[in-house]
Amino acid sequence: MKALIPAAGLGTRFLPATKAQPKEMLLVVDRPAIQYVVEEGLASAADEVVIINSRQKKVIEDHFSPNPELVAMLRAAGKDAYADEVERVGNMNVSYVYQEEALGLGHAVRCAAEKTGDDAFYVLLGDVLVPGNEMLPRMQEISDEHDGASVIAVMPVPHEDVKRFGVIAGEAITDDVWKVDSLVEKPAPEDAPSDLAVFGRYLLSPRVMQLLADVKPGVGGEIQLTDALDAVLREEEMYALIIDPAEGFDTGTIESWLQTNNVLFNRRGA
Ligand code: G1P
Repeated sequence: MKALIPAAGLGTRFLPATKAQPKEMLLVVDRPAIQYVVEEGLASAADEVVIINSRQKKVIEDHFSPNPELVAMLRAAGKDAYADEVERVGNMNVSYVYQEEALGLGHAVRCAAEKTGDDAFYVLLGDVLVPGNEMLPRMQEISDEHDGASVIAVMPVPHEDVKRFGVIAGEAITDDVWKVDSLVEKPAPEDAPSDLAVFGRYLLSPRVMQLLADVKPGVGGEIQLTDALDAVLREEEMYALIIDPAEGFDTGTIESWLQTNNVLFNRRGA
């Protein structure tokens, strides 16, 4: 089973910081943001993380490649803790596929179709960090309880914010799990079926990957993952895990990125 991390976006909101440096490589406390997401993927049931990269962002690949010269230098200088860390990051089980054109999140995910084959797969969006690594195992449990159904993480958001997210319709079956009836990408507040926003962690059935091949451009002219999820609901069940906002950290805007740095820095060693 694979964990897919789409990383080919332009990082427009962070310009000029992201002019020459990918957004995914911006520092969060002591490591680039994408390293948290890769570590989360590798801590799950996935055996490999697949980064859906753009050809302009090779520095992401450098980060996860071995660097024996640096390790040797650090060891010679007696800096073994740093050497160990550099080795650990260079040995992570990460592979790459390329999204040649930025045509939307659904298109990015579809670029990894050959990697996922006939298996279920995770999608982890890099804009949100889940340093506790507990969300994917919980989603897996819910999927296992429902014959391998797709499970997505959702978070309650203020009503006026629904226009920034995918939003679900459905009904509660337990305190923190909903059965999903439909999804809509970035609805106007007056059209939103709930205040539960798709948060950026997905466990998806292989059928979603097949359906993505036929999804037409939707909101913003982009091929939306949300539209494939809505389509799969005609054939399969889907569940949503309502997450505690304290479990996940947004890094999608400069303000939320700074706040996340603050909170995670203060938690260090706590
Ligand atoms: C994407 C998804 C959206 C989801 C959001 C979470 O939107 O399309 O459904 O709610 O991520 O961060 P984007 O932020 O790429 O516009």
